[in-house]
Amino acid sequence: MSIKRSLTSVPVKLSTFMMLFFILMGTQVFAANPEVSDSEEAISAGKSIFNANCRSCHRLDQKNVGPALRGVTDRHSIDWTKSFIRNSQALIASGDAEAVAIYNEYNQLVMPSHEFLSDDDLMNLLAYVEYGDKADATAAAAGEGGAVAAGGAGVPSEYLTIILGVLVVVLLLILVVLGLIISVLTRYLKSQPLEEDDKEFLEQKFEFKKILRSDAFLVIVTALVIAFVAKTALDELYTVGVQQGYAPKQPIAFSHALHAGQYEIECQYCHTGVEIGKSANIPSANICMNCHMHIQNVDGKDGISPEIAKIYAAVDNNQPIEWVRVHNLPDLSYFNHAQHVAVGGVECQTCHGPIEEMEVVYQHSSLTMGWCIDCHRQTDIRADGNEYYDKLVQLHSGSKNALKVKDIGGLECAKCHY
Ligand code: HEC
Ligand code: HEC
Ligand code: HEC
Ligand code: HEC
Ligand code: HEC
Ligand code: HEC
Repeated sequence: MSIKRSLTSVPVKLSTFMMLFFILMGTQVFAANPEVSDSEEAISAGKSIFNANCRSCHRLDQKNVGPALRGVTDRHSIDWTKSFIRNSQALIASGDAEAVAIYNEYNQLVMPSHEFLSDDDLMNLLAYVEYGDKADATAAAAGEGGAVAAGGAGVPSEYLTIILGVLVVVLLLILVVLGLIISVLTRYLKSQPLEEDDKEFLEQKFEFKKILRSDAFLVIVTALVIAFVAKTALDELYTVGVQQGYAPKQPIAFSHALHAGQYEIECQYCHTGVEIGKSANIPSANICMNCHMHIQNVDGKDGISPEIAKIYAAVDNNQPIEWVRVHNLPDLSYFNHAQHVAVGGVECQTCHGPIEEMEVVYQHSSLTMGWCIDCHRQTDIRADGNEYYDKLVQLHSGSKNALKVKDIGGLECAKCHY
């Protein structure tokens, strides 16, 4: 065989080997506890128990509301696993360290008890959990890969950076290894007697140094560095006092685009104070429960959406959901919603922007004193049907201009400052 052909095939073989290696890593080779049966009957009996009682919160190879269950008998003893499934709360209350740890890791979500399951049921369950639906594993791995490619729908964004970093490092390592192998082989081949065209092939070098010095390479590296520095600086800026556009991450991925936009739920249904008081109010978890008692997931998916599970946890533990405030005037100023919405007839969107399109609420206006005053200078008051203003309007009837907010005291310091 010609060296030329065998040489070019080295990288191919190497990458095939690497791919096999990663696929093996991906499917997580583990050894389940030998006490767990892998018989077909046990697995299929376990599967129906699992689907009836556990599938709403668990998957075998993916985190759902609860942890991925495959490999659980590796992480814990069989006895522990059985008593956790039967009554996790009792185990947690007894102070068992493993149980308390996993409970805290899952934000103290309460897993229902399953005292009705017999010992055989539990062993069948474990057989299914450890050996059932292996095809699921590759599907899940592929699914996760897909999610990364699609911008991380299923992967928290903070992991994306790490995953990308690791991928880059792995790629670089592969390059280095390939380079080393090629240079070793070349050196070896040069010491052998060779045919003419093989020699020629060996002479042509792949010049790393040339690439490193090339303009294109410099431009790319500089661009990357600049992009990185600019992004870090921008991120910093947003946390230092620049509040317009402020869009903090909320404890529950609540979407106005979905609720106020797609489902057209009225703002007042949740922001109950808007027409009647100073504050608009953020709804309590009980208002969410009016609907989410019944709606447990999106688009008829089975199981409880992890985001909606957080509402249940808040209600169960009688703890408020800790929404992060987006709009925040300093204490020295006074702003009243009813005055603007009910009396002034100003639309929410005039001040808050297209809320019904926002996945995450951001601060649309600057909320500075100049912003308030500009609007008060320009905006007519709604005098029609408001007896309170009749006299004022009469007084002003000489002037051509309609009555502006400034004419009723909208520029007086004391109106906006305590
Ligand atoms: C309502 C949701 C829900 C249901 C239904 C549910 N679980 Fe869980 N499970 C959880 C949560 C959440 C955790 C994490 C620990 C915690 O918060 O108590 C958990 C933890 C576990 C653990 C510990 C896993 C580990 O890695 O430590 C096991 C085992 C388990 N569940 C098995 C089951 C089995 C078997 C069923 C069905 C018979 C079941 N669960 C039904 C929510 C649920
Ligand atoms: C189903 C309930 C619901 C509906 C309907 C709803 N909201 Fe909200 N709104 C919330 C919740 C919960 C928050 C707090 C979490 C957040 O900021 O996303 C919030 C936050 C806000 C905020 C930011 C508050 C802050 O912290 O400064 C504004 C502004 C707002 N909503 C305006 C509106 C407007 C305008 C509408 C109608 C077009 C509307 N909302 C409809 C539930 C709702
Ligand atoms: C008037 C009914 C109603 C109220 C009140 C309501 N929701 Fe919803 N919510 C829905 C509907 C409808 C869906 C979409 C269901 C679908 O797509 O199948 C939904 C979906 C969601 C989702 C998406 C779940 C996912 O996995 O993507 C979250 C999160 C959510 N709601 C949180 C809340 C919170 C928090 C509150 C309280 C502030 C609340 N909802 C109040 C009707 C409501
Ligand atoms: C004239 C401008 C203006 C209009 C109109 C307006 N808001 Fe606001 N909104 C504000 C300001 C300013 C704040 C910040 C108040 C503070 O920090 O005290 C705010 C805060 C909020 C908050 C946070 C909770 C609170 O009360 O401080 C919610 C929720 C809210 N607005 C919802 C609404 C909804 C819903 C509407 C329409 C029905 C609406 N707003 C109309 C200016 C406005
Ligand atoms: C989009 C226009 C708009 C913005 C922005 C706005 N306002 Fe107003 N404001 C009005 C209108 C309209 C009225 C008149 C309501 C009425 O008819 O009594 C009003 C009335 C008032 C009044 C009562 C004045 C009086 O003499 O009765 C106060 C106080 C006030 N606004 C405070 C504020 C503050 C504080 C801000 C900024 C944080 C603000 N407004 C931003 C439109 C606006
Ligand atoms: C229409 C409402 C409104 C009127 C009228 C108004 N202010 Fe303000 N003022 C605000 C708001 C809102 C803030 C806070 C926003 C900010 O810091 O820009 C503020 C902030 C301030 C501050 C603090 C500025 C800072 O940078 O922290 C001072 C001082 C102040 N106002 C003085 C006055 C004086 C004096 C008058 C009368 C001539 C007046 N204001 C009239 C709404 C008003």
